[in-house]
Amino acid sequence: MKAIRTHEPTGISGLVFEEAPDPRPMFCEVLVKVAACGITHNELDWPVWTCRAGHRRTSIIPGHEVSGVVAALGFGTAGVAVGDEVFGLTDQLRDGAAAEYVAVEARNLAPKPRTVDHVHAAAVPRAGLTAWQGLFDHGKLADGQTVVIHGAGGAVGSVAVQLARWAGARVIGTGRGHSRALVTELGADRFIALDADGLQGAAGQADLVFDTIGGEVLAGSSDLLKPGGTLVTIKADARLAAIRGDITTVVFIQESSRAQLTELARLVDQGHLRPQVGAVYPLAQAVTAYSAKAAGGVPGRIVLQP
Ligand SMILES: NC(=O)c1ccc[n+]([C@@H]2O[C@H](COP(=O)([O-])OP(=O)(O)OC[C@H]3O[C@@H](n4cnc5c(N)ncnc54)[C@H](OP(=O)(O)O)[C@@H]3O)[C@@H](O)[C@H]2O)c1
Repeated sequence: MKAIRTHEPTGISGLVFEEAPDPRPMFCEVLVKVAACGITHNELDWPVWTCRAGHRRTSIIPGHEVSGVVAALGFGTAGVAVGDEVFGLTDQLRDGAAAEYVAVEARNLAPKPRTVDHVHAAAVPRAGLTAWQGLFDHGKLADGQTVVIHGAGGAVGSVAVQLARWAGARVIGTGRGHSRALVTELGADRFIALDADGLQGAAGQADLVFDTIGGEVLAGSSDLLKPGGTLVTIKADARLAAIRGDITTVVFIQESSRAQLTELARLVDQGHLRPQVGAVYPLAQAVTAYSAKAAGGVPGRIVLQP
């Protein structure tokens, strides 16, 4: 099959479009014919060169958000059938979906949302699971509470704004000024442009801060919280150690969950969640796609199509 691969930990610059072995579905796995693949611009900077068995990987196919059609089943795989349309988040430490085919554990897939195409479905899995787990599993966001969402125009942030709104929260989105129109349109009550305004105007207002930016923005975020509030970040950062003692802080990495994928698909089909796709590129132009997102200014998710 054709795939995007890298053979060295050199980030985006090492990606090549080439022939790769066809993946084979193992026990309880599914072979998916990829229709669309969502990418995260800095995923190759994560510690992904060691597989779960502890061995160094010799190559990587990136892109772990997939939407496609079941092409074959591994031994013992039940609950899905050849021809089913599915979407999901593939294991970060295995070859991903920037390819014509990907082998995925069936538990990491759910039926694709019916009302959107594969391109938009592929923008949901990582962004949706991360936003869900950040807001509800870790952040315990409840109806009537106020949440500040940093990076609200990005892939994760744009889903988080919509989920928080659906849950009945008051939403303050932040980001660069170019995100204002989108974030407001997605349902935020207020937008703070971090490149123009300070965060001081929102001091002490939030029950929850959900941070997707890190760095200085994360460092200045504890002041936004009410006493007893929660600061959840998806950016690992040593600055957390210096944060106030009267708040809860959580750093986490998203996990796949068929139940949450199913719930996200339901919200898409009911019109509560509109996946944001900033650009679509052919698989062969993956380097351009990763570079464009890394340069900033592209809203939502970039999606590749084989
Ligand atoms: N821990 C986890 O489980 C997990 C899961 C998913 C993602 N992540 C990580 O979380 C981060 C966000 O992911 P994503 O896919 O949502 O990325 P994304 O689509 O690039 O979203 C980030 C958003 O934040 C904005 N932003 C970044 N730096 C900013 C700054 N200094 N001031 C104001 N706005 C800023 C970006 O604007 P511009 O486009 O203008 O730069 C963009 O709108 C990435 O680093 C990703 O690797 C972690």
